[in-house]
Amino acid sequence: MLAIIGGSGLTQLTNLTVERREVIRTPYGEPSGPLTFGRLCGQPAIFIARHGYGHTIPPHEVNYCANIWALKQAGASCIVSIAAVGGIRADLGPGAIVIPHQIIDYTWGRKSTYHEGGDAPVVHVDFTQPYDPELRQVLLAAANDAGQAVSDGGVYAAMQGPRLETAAEIDRLERDGADIVGMTGMPEAALARELDLPYAAITVVANHAAGRGDSKLGIQFASLEDILRETMERVRHIIEMICLEDK
Ligand code: HPA
Repeated sequence: MLAIIGGSGLTQLTNLTVERREVIRTPYGEPSGPLTFGRLCGQPAIFIARHGYGHTIPPHEVNYCANIWALKQAGASCIVSIAAVGGIRADLGPGAIVIPHQIIDYTWGRKSTYHEGGDAPVVHVDFTQPYDPELRQVLLAAANDAGQAVSDGGVYAAMQGPRLETAAEIDRLERDGADIVGMTGMPEAALARELDLPYAAITVVANHAAGRGDSKLGIQFASLEDILRETMERVRHIIEMICLEDK
């Protein structure tokens, strides 16, 4: 069953026919909110709002362990993450949609593994390809079927937040090879891998990253919300076209 984690600008999935909501308890505490079970174009699907339904949980306080655990427990077989990002690469301006293929993790102090404590043997999961290649192809096909242009591939820099970056930090991320910057991609992707759940992301560029384009002197929050609203509508069309076939 498809699970969708909605980020900023997508706290509700209006094209999901809601059947029930369920509070799931996990050994890691409370998820960001109840899981919403329903149907998306006839297929069963689960939705959770990463920042809570009222958008009150900042990126560094999201209980990623509880969210991914709850989705697995509820029967998810794969996870599509929706997230807002800043565009670092010049061609990734506001309104661009990117299906990233790589991650660099700059977050700190977040609980980022299920494999700690107790007497269990040490586990190192493979994370060479942090986004599931097959699920990425499913998303690219869905975007194509929805007639929505997306960028195939991009390196996602996961920052700690909740503050936005300095211009020099963005220069550094670019030198590191990052194309887009966000605050929620990790440890979410790694935790999904630890639970063997294929995971991929649809990211929406809400703004030029700090010091770039029209964010040269600062990020314009007023236009950011309009862009997010419009682009998330396009993302909804893509989500409607996701065809899992036994995933
Ligand atoms: N930086 C980090 N996270 C973000 C940004 C940004 O510029 N825009 C949206 N999420």
